[in-house]
Amino acid sequence: FFVFFSVSMAGGDKKKKKTKKGGNNEEGKALMAKRIGYEDMTLMENMTLDGVLSNLKDRYVEDLIYTYTSSILVAINPYKRLPIYTDAFVKQYKGVRLGKLPPHIFAIAETAYTAMIQHERNQSVLVSGESGAGKTESTKLILQFLSARTGRSSGIDKMVLASVPVLEAMGNAKTGRNDNSSRFGKLIKIQFDDDYYIIGSTMEHYLLEKSRLIFQAPGERNFHIFYQMTNGMSKEDKERYSLREAEYYNYINKSGCMTVDGMDESKELQEFREALALFDITGDLEHQMFCILASVLHIGNITFKAEGEGCALDGPDAQKELEITAELLGLTAEDLLFAISKKEIKMRSEIITKPLNAEQARNQGDALAKHLYSVLFDWLVSQLNGCTHAETYKQFIGVLDIFGFEVFTKNSLEQFLINFANEKLQQFFNNQIFKLEQVIYEQEKIDWSIIEFKDNQECLDLIEQKRPPGIISILDEESKFPRATDETFVEKLTSNLSKHANFEIPRLSRGKFNVKHFAGEVSYEVDGWREKNRDELPEHMLRILGQSKNLFTAILYSPEEIADPKGITGKSPFARRQAKKEAAGRESPRAGVTSPRSGMTSPRSAVAVGQAAKKGASKLTLGTQFKNQLQNLMDLLGSTEPYFIRCVKSNPQKIPNNFDDKLIYDQLLYAGMLETIRIRRLGYPIRWTHEDFFKRFRVISPQVAQTKNFRECAEKLALTLDMNMP
Ligand SMILES: Nc1ncnc2c1ncn2[C@@H]1O[C@H](COP(=O)(O)OP(=O)(O)OP(=O)(O)O)[C@@H](O)[C@H]1O
Ligand SMILES: [Mg+2]
Repeated sequence: FFVFFSVSMAGGDKKKKKTKKGGNNEEGKALMAKRIGYEDMTLMENMTLDGVLSNLKDRYVEDLIYTYTSSILVAINPYKRLPIYTDAFVKQYKGVRLGKLPPHIFAIAETAYTAMIQHERNQSVLVSGESGAGKTESTKLILQFLSARTGRSSGIDKMVLASVPVLEAMGNAKTGRNDNSSRFGKLIKIQFDDDYYIIGSTMEHYLLEKSRLIFQAPGERNFHIFYQMTNGMSKEDKERYSLREAEYYNYINKSGCMTVDGMDESKELQEFREALALFDITGDLEHQMFCILASVLHIGNITFKAEGEGCALDGPDAQKELEITAELLGLTAEDLLFAISKKEIKMRSEIITKPLNAEQARNQGDALAKHLYSVLFDWLVSQLNGCTHAETYKQFIGVLDIFGFEVFTKNSLEQFLINFANEKLQQFFNNQIFKLEQVIYEQEKIDWSIIEFKDNQECLDLIEQKRPPGIISILDEESKFPRATDETFVEKLTSNLSKHANFEIPRLSRGKFNVKHFAGEVSYEVDGWREKNRDELPEHMLRILGQSKNLFTAILYSPEEIADPKGITGKSPFARRQAKKEAAGRESPRAGVTSPRSGMTSPRSAVAVGQAAKKGASKLTLGTQFKNQLQNLMDLLGSTEPYFIRCVKSNPQKIPNNFDDKLIYDQLLYAGMLETIRIRRLGYPIRWTHEDFFKRFRVISPQVAQTKNFRECAEKLALTLDMNMP
């Protein structure tokens, strides 16, 4: 699935050979030489959504997938490899102004790069679109271009390129819409030095879809890595992690989908490991990582049955899985069983232990699996950042590859937060488009006060406002309040928000509320929101994990790191190794489970920095954390010069040469294309050059002489027609 480049693709050997042998540059050149329809749709006489659609179709059938609307690039997924991404194309677009050559994603990357140098300002590229539209592939193409464009093939280029597929193994999965769907959002900042060579990169990630770990809809899969391990590992490795065939594991065997067409799991795993090695994840560290990954799979098979007031392991298989998991996590089977099947209640000065019933224990096991995986994912991102980030740099180009607007049959907290992010991005987009329009009006010395523009601030207030409280604040209150229920949550929403124009409680259905988003109305179901929003493991589980004999597990859960989350970046690989060495010398006390987390000494280590930062912040709820993250993102984007790439899915069958009018129309509608058109309509929607205007209407007043100054000619002509020329 490392479609466009694996570690070796961008400027690497494999690619060079292919270009030489395949000679596909000629094909690419011939393709791009075709002139079909409007390359920039702002030049269309009357810009309507239908007009836009038919222009895009005319071009798409000729394999011209890129089209501009001013500096916004529309990219339609071709579902086939086009020969237009070779080094020859990088060279062709290098140093060329936007619009001079046919539309291409490289042209946007080039524009951002040159603007960064000329304006000495940070740049950003916002890649958006629905699942399967091509956001991640576009992101990779931008990285590929920038890496090849800047021409100095340093180790860091290679690492920046490799970081994307590393995270894909753990953060991507097959869904109904995309065989390689990113189940997290990301912002990659490519850092440049004084000479504008790539000197480093950092990555921020958003909302990993943890619920996928324990449940996948029919036909979908869990994250790729689990199949790479069960189907792709050698016999010895599988024995090392006590792994059996994929079908055995509850977390992956329920959706009826185990494989992806054309995916070779052992090859993928090998590539993943090779890429990990670039980031210092080899030997014992790699082994520890696989221990945690394997433990997640095993936890799903620790099943329970009712017994007395509580529950017991459901037979010898469950017992065996408990033992394997405990071993992998460096715990005793007894401690792990306690962690999963009991709860602790604090009563003033003492802690009382209570058994859970079978269903509750199963849920607690699921919570553990989700927590382990997400902590590992955070750690991995911070490990990559630790290896790639540059302490000092001159400027950056940020590339944002983030989930599009989502509406499912059942919409939960995840969809709500994703749609909140899209409201934010839409507002940013609108403001930018409005600003762009303003610049044109100012250049032409036209009064632009005629454009009164209303954005989606109201909907954003509904979601994120603190006082009076919006949805997130109310959810936070209800998440902290011990006696809150789904009903009290909905009641509070109703009493606070029922007058809001974008909010509605649907009649006849309980536990639901509706939000009118810019892209349509969505009905949300509130069950499980408060637990998800709290986003934490019970205290006793954290304590037990922190006492693991397995150094890596213990450090991921170490309380000192949790208390002091500073230093997320800034560690060199050497400092990390040093810290690891120090860490290796420490004792691992086996404290009684009822004692507080005492006796832990945890040296500062970059192994823990990602988790530490996350945990330090995790006293905040998921909703508030995400809200803050989004605000930081908006501040960052606001300080850059932004470019927009609107990816469009061509058809649901995921096949080449198939333009599904309805599907594409709907995407254009919600991709802000309508907003662009609307803002244009509010002002002067039809724009012709003076020359075109004069030549077209001169027949009406042939007495007006043609000179070289078409502005003057047009003015004279307009006067004879009794028209005002702005
Ligand atoms: N420019 C392109 N050329 C060829 N194929 C492409 C291109 N862009 C996308 N594809 C194809 O479409 C598939 C889906 O694209 P991609 O994974 O980038 O979608 P996405 O928008 O990131 O979706 P998600 O939100 O699910 O992560 C790719 O695996 C690839 O097969
Ligand atoms: Mg993606």
